Amino acid sequence: MSHQFRLLGISGSLRAHSFSTAVLDALVEATASRASYEYADIGAMPHFNQDHFAEPLPPTVQRFRDQVTACDALLIVSPEYNHGIPGVLKNALDWASRPHNQAPLKHKPVLIVTCSPAVTGGARAQYQIRETVVSALARPVVTPEILVGQVDRKIVDGRFHDPAVIAFALSGFVTMFGDIARLACR
Ligand SMILES: Cc1cc2nc3c(=O)[nH]c(=O)nc-3n(C[C@H](O)[C@H](O)[C@H](O)COP(=O)(O)O)c2cc1C
Repeated sequence: MSHQFRLLGISGSLRAHSFSTAVLDALVEATASRASYEYADIGAMPHFNQDHFAEPLPPTVQRFRDQVTACDALLIVSPEYNHGIPGVLKNALDWASRPHNQAPLKHKPVLIVTCSPAVTGGARAQYQIRETVVSALARPVVTPEILVGQVDRKIVDGRFHDPAVIAFALSGFVTMFGDIARLACR
């Protein structure tokens, strides 16, 4: 049965010609028949400060939290910075992680994709992202890690092109769609 899932797409890079954003765009295109997407503007949010975690929240933070609340699941595509999660992505996830146990991220399936010009494909960042979303009680999709190595060689005219990687990633989407359906039945 076909179902239109509501997904929130997050690129961990703010760079104008980001490879991560190109991969995100390609995955959005490849899954357009099953999912509709919003994109999160994580660069617009201020640095997390617990003193400012009070009503009214900064509008950009409120918008992001509302997007996380409204979506069925999140798709994160991120680079690796210094063997870890980019600060801007960690900041966004922190804003959506409070209050603990009632946070917008709680129970949300999260499909994590990392990419890098290096052959390692951002593997270390992938595990830090996973740890962070687990801390917020979200549910990383349990699937073979989707790592895109040598991503810079797979960008043609600004668009990501690697049918094998897309096909591999689609198996993660199938698992995520199943996770969403199971959560809806609880
Ligand atoms: C501050 C910084 C740290 C980086 N650290 C890593 C790293 O640890 N591992 C890696 O594979 N690439 C690293 N890179 C290279 C990035 O993978 C590369 O710049 C990539 O294009 C960034 O993703 P984007 O194209 O989506 O912006 C680093 C880049 C920057 C700017």
